[in-house]
Amino acid sequence: MRFSDLSSSSVFASLLLTLPSLSAAFYLPGVVPTSYDEGQVVPLYVNRLTPGLARQDDQLHSVLSYDYYHPAFHLCRPKDGPQDVRESLGSILFGDRIRTSPFELHMAKNETCKAVCEPVTFDSRSAMFTNRRIVQGYNINWLVDGLPAAQLNLDSITNTQFYSPGFALGSIHESGQPVLHNHFNILIDYHHVGLGSKDKYRVVGVLVQPESRLRSTALSDGSAECGDDGDTTPMVLAEDGETVVSWTYSVYWRESPTAWATRWDKYLHVYDPKIHWFSLINSAVFVVFLVGMVSMILLRALKKDIARYNRLDVMTLDDLDGTSAAIEDGIQEDSGWKLVHGDVFRCPQSPLLLSVLLGNGAQLFMMTGVTVAFALLGLLSPANRGFLATAILLIYTLFGFIGGYVSSRAYKSFGGEAWKRNILLTPLLIPGFIFAVFFLLNLFVWAQGSSGAVPFTTMLALVAIWFVISVPLSVAGSWLGFKQRALEGPTKTNQIPRQIPPMSGTLRPIPSLFLTGILPFAAIFVELYFIMNSLWTNKIYYMFGFLFVCYGLMIITSATTTILLVYFLLCAENYRWHWRAFAGAGMTGGYVFINALIFWATRVSFGGLTGAVLYVGYSALIGFLVFVLTGSIGFFSSWAFVHRIYGSIKVD
Ligand SMILES: *[C@@H]1O[C@H](CO)[C@@H](O)[C@H](O)[C@H]1NC(C)=O
Repeated sequence: MRFSDLSSSSVFASLLLTLPSLSAAFYLPGVVPTSYDEGQVVPLYVNRLTPGLARQDDQLHSVLSYDYYHPAFHLCRPKDGPQDVRESLGSILFGDRIRTSPFELHMAKNETCKAVCEPVTFDSRSAMFTNRRIVQGYNINWLVDGLPAAQLNLDSITNTQFYSPGFALGSIHESGQPVLHNHFNILIDYHHVGLGSKDKYRVVGVLVQPESRLRSTALSDGSAECGDDGDTTPMVLAEDGETVVSWTYSVYWRESPTAWATRWDKYLHVYDPKIHWFSLINSAVFVVFLVGMVSMILLRALKKDIARYNRLDVMTLDDLDGTSAAIEDGIQEDSGWKLVHGDVFRCPQSPLLLSVLLGNGAQLFMMTGVTVAFALLGLLSPANRGFLATAILLIYTLFGFIGGYVSSRAYKSFGGEAWKRNILLTPLLIPGFIFAVFFLLNLFVWAQGSSGAVPFTTMLALVAIWFVISVPLSVAGSWLGFKQRALEGPTKTNQIPRQIPPMSGTLRPIPSLFLTGILPFAAIFVELYFIMNSLWTNKIYYMFGFLFVCYGLMIITSATTTILLVYFLLCAENYRWHWRAFAGAGMTGGYVFINALIFWATRVSFGGLTGAVLYVGYSALIGFLVFVLTGSIGFFSSWAFVHRIYGSIKVD
């Protein structure tokens, strides 16, 4: 059984099957080839229509996707109605709606000019709707034997050809009118394999060259006339009357030397690899420089501080003749961070909220790390539709245990007492917030009649997975965390809090926030651009090697810059470092959001409110997740740092 196969109707039943068949996940569904006999039917499935970058201005005009069988498109349905094809939960969440279609493909049999169905009539309303989608650059998505039907593209920089999934619903004619593609030339690459004595064939590439042909007509006897006589008059949908349209197609099978195992290579085209290398080397050099500088400054300064503190300590014990007081005064005057040893481990403000954020941050950290590592090993290849999304969801759910453990341990170490609230809020607060935002945004999509709306059953399944798997795991983790002893600081906390002197310059909250967050953001900036691009324009993202290195660089920069910030704060006798460290590193998420807004201003032009709300909403959600993630990284590295430095000085 395919582990990732959870059809939307049987999600509940499959829920319980999810865990036991986890081991089957590594057997990689979709990796076993399907071999066909000559003439055997190869099914063609249809997926939703997705927005792409419009050809005329290279901008993204919409983020909504539409069901293939949306009535306004009048695309042909199978005789007995379209059937749902089983899909993974992740692929449903990310908007796939895969259905059967009336196309008939026979392995290795060329067929020219067939009608898909009887002629259809566009009234003025659906003509207007469809024309708008054509102008917005919508693409049709098909799947043949698990491969997306693609359009051939040329990368002008490297001068190589590659397949980009999806083909245009229509195009803009020279006259400036939108024209509908009503004829499909389907070119399928097949690979011949000899299995035993039998000849078998496998699908290794699917290209579609759509055309707009007014002359295409489906005849009443089921045959068709495709206008192959060179008449290139396009099919224009009249917006002031009715237009009769015939959908026709031709299938050409081309023998290919490409083996089945490498059939995805053409699809996984890396746009401009030079940019990735350039940015990677750039950030790597930058990070090495930064880390080197920080550790040098810090280590030298700290060594000096620690040596001085400890020497003075010894001297104070040695000369009991009154000079000690003077020396003590000397320390009091010129040295920074030792002064706050009696306050630095004081409980932070809102320890409950902080510990909940930290628990969820740890959970996110583990999830992203494991997912990127899996992807790097090729375990999450795009050949397994929706597998990446399903894996992310599952890994995140299972790491609920870590979230609970970290949250309760941190809370106990802060000296928090409301442990019941901590146990409850850790698995509920942040996931609940994310789910609520997701649900609201989904309502918007749903109101637009777009297929991007996640079905209600899937929503319920998500909630069920959460309560059945993640919450108990988190509670178990919390329980274990509370049983451990609290991580106490190496110095005792004074009864009376010290006065914090006013901060000046970059140590004030707002400037320090913006300064700390910019460095980790710089490390991920370019990769983020590509991820956003593929997320919104439905391109395949497959540069996990780059992503893995970027993730590592981001962790290192978050940790280093936050440690530096905390050191400066402590030197300025400000012992309230907890939230400053969290928010400073977390500001990376703020930059991610700002970056999304810049992307919006330059590459996106939405007509309606819905698109804008969705775009801003999802960007804010992503920014928030990055905030929690990097904030936790910054906090924990600072925590380790503070424990380390105060552990190495002697305090009486
Ligand atoms: C089918 O058509 C393609 C493209 O025209 C051609 O290369 C191929 O040889 C044809 N195949 C068969 C089986 O006739």
